Amino acid sequence: MDKTKRKAIIAGNWKMNKTPNEAKELLNAITPLVKDADCEVVACVPYVDLSVALEVVKGTNVKIGAENCHWEKSGAYTGEISTGMLTEMGVEYVVLGHSERRQYFGETDETVNKRTKAALAAGLKPIVCVGELLWERECDITEEVIARQIKLDLFDVSAEDVKKTVIAYEPVWAIGTGKTATADQAEEVCAFIRATLAKLYDKETADAVTIQYGGSMNDGNADELLSKADVDGGLIGGASLVAEKFAAIVKAAGK
Ligand code: PGA
Repeated sequence: MDKTKRKAIIAGNWKMNKTPNEAKELLNAITPLVKDADCEVVACVPYVDLSVALEVVKGTNVKIGAENCHWEKSGAYTGEISTGMLTEMGVEYVVLGHSERRQYFGETDETVNKRTKAALAAGLKPIVCVGELLWERECDITEEVIARQIKLDLFDVSAEDVKKTVIAYEPVWAIGTGKTATADQAEEVCAFIRATLAKLYDKETADAVTIQYGGSMNDGNADELLSKADVDGGLIGGASLVAEKFAAIVKAAGK
């Protein structure tokens, strides 16, 4: 990562894990371990954990994110959460377009784009996830898939706003599988994402965007992944649920 040009961000994506009480316990364990972090530290937690999470991190360097948001401000959308509900609480980040939402909940690039624009308009920092399926990689169309997602998910997002957007490159085959992309594979696609942004916007804008890697990143492989020039942080699933492992990844991002 290149900290002279952009912010390094390590974000936990808790997914559907931890009750409010468990969230309190985990964040109480994480905060002292990451207090001297030389990067931005974020925990993206289930909606029902947000309140207690924000309370626990008050006065610390840990930021809180949600795992999704709707694009409408309010209305008849049973079960959905608006950006205003999140910002009023003090939430700063929101994960959008995660492959699990694309795979199980009908998320499309069109809805990711709507959510991204709504999040930015509300002042939230979106973490937009992109990534190829295993068979797309095997068919050698990774770059086409990623370029398509970047173009569609960021359609109509201004250069100024894209600088506030975090992109998480998460090869779907590496998520929760224990199969990490090699550091070279991660770097190749993160650099490709930056080149795509440079074409869509300009080099200065592309250089300012934080691009994370996600997919079985852990305390054992974080050093190598984060040593790559275009890997500016990580979106961490499983390892973010264990305070010591998450803190070790944060430490690796400080090197
Ligand atoms: P994982 O999940 O670290 O458990 O592979 C990453 C993610 O889905 O964001």
